[in-house]
Amino acid sequence: MKVLVVGGGGREHTIVWKLSKSPKVTEIYAAPGNGGIAELATCVPIKATDIDGVVNFAYENKIDLTVVAPDDPLVAGMVDALEAKGLRAFGPNKAAAIIEGSKVYSKELMEKYNIPTAACKVFTDANECMAYIKSQNTYPTVIKAEGLALGKGVIIAQTEAEAETAIDDIMVKKIFGDSGNRVVIEEFLTGPEVSVLTFTDGKTIVPMVSAQDHKRAYDNDMGPNTGGMGTFSPSRVYTKEIADICMKEIFVPTMEGLNKENRKFKGVIFFGLMITKNGPKVIEYNCRFGDPETQVVLPRLKGDLFEIMMAVSEQRLADVNIEWDDNAAVCVVAASGGYPKKYATGYEISGMADAESAGNIKIFHAGTKNEDGKVLTSGGRVLGITAVSKDLDTAIKDAYAAVEKVSFTDMHYRKDIGVK
Ligand code: AMP
Ligand code: GLY
Repeated sequence: MKVLVVGGGGREHTIVWKLSKSPKVTEIYAAPGNGGIAELATCVPIKATDIDGVVNFAYENKIDLTVVAPDDPLVAGMVDALEAKGLRAFGPNKAAAIIEGSKVYSKELMEKYNIPTAACKVFTDANECMAYIKSQNTYPTVIKAEGLALGKGVIIAQTEAEAETAIDDIMVKKIFGDSGNRVVIEEFLTGPEVSVLTFTDGKTIVPMVSAQDHKRAYDNDMGPNTGGMGTFSPSRVYTKEIADICMKEIFVPTMEGLNKENRKFKGVIFFGLMITKNGPKVIEYNCRFGDPETQVVLPRLKGDLFEIMMAVSEQRLADVNIEWDDNAAVCVVAASGGYPKKYATGYEISGMADAESAGNIKIFHAGTKNEDGKVLTSGGRVLGITAVSKDLDTAIKDAYAAVEKVSFTDMHYRKDIGVK
């Protein structure tokens, strides 16, 4: 079977690596891929958002399965375009991907089907929105642009002045373009955050092992938000009891609600959950694998990812036995100095083979490229250095021992991944 993976970050490297272990997969292509993916797949210079480019490539090369990993092509309808050409894809169609594409839609869905989430109100007018925030006079308040905003569309305003700036940026200055046409004002919730990725074919929903992300740039959750500085799996707070509540009150009602709305979802639903004093609540839905959650979840999957993806696409997920290793994984992101703000690239990375010689270490590339036989940095998040060990404490120790061996100019990483 020939597989094409769309995307070029650490998540996609992990998916390609796992698919490469399937005896059924003979050839892997990636669009556009990266320096690490190039060791396992043929990288083709097609952008992940180039729907025509991906569809034409898949058609001409008789690709058996195209895995669309990032949010933007899913929300823009890449799966619909592939299927219209008779090609098989893994990922939701445009109608179902709206759970990530529109925060207004996802809140309406949760409200209609009684899925626990933060209380909210939607606004299309900046003045009305600000008048409401002032009348509530409760801080922090949570301000969310409706659409995709490269992970920057959520502002936690601590004061009225901060709220005013956010509303002005999103609704008046339109810094996120049309993504800011509508805004959701949400109740501020507290509690640990857990990421639960699930496989669903629209009939069955199967949760993967839980994970936790570290979004802030610096230790102790300080500094600016990033795409994620590291992850670990399993979460210590996501107990069997909470998992059962989530299955009954959140996962199944979400899948069934989408079916009732004629938006059958086939692919991965990522539930961003907050475990509050009043039980688990949905913070956000994503219509795809998480990054860097995938880097700690898929290494713990015992079975064949390709088989699972085919079963999802053919709606026979109920017949597949999905098993997980009873171990733990920690992924420490090595980023370019300065990320998520200004940073330089093009530095040579050294020490990776030495780090991976430990056997339980896998380095997933997020922003790298190959040049003249060298691996160079090419993005903000550069590597996801991942250890799989018998328990979390050991995995933390093993991951950091590997991190110590890897270096590039101005490399930055958090020292507290997995501790919270
Ligand atoms: P998102 O872009 O939806 O992942 O949101 C970014 C982050 O904002 C989340 O990971 C949470 O830490 C925080 N957040 C979002 N919604 C809420 C809320 N209602 N209460 C508290 N924190 C929130
Ligand atoms: N790690 C969070 C995300 O993938 O959206």
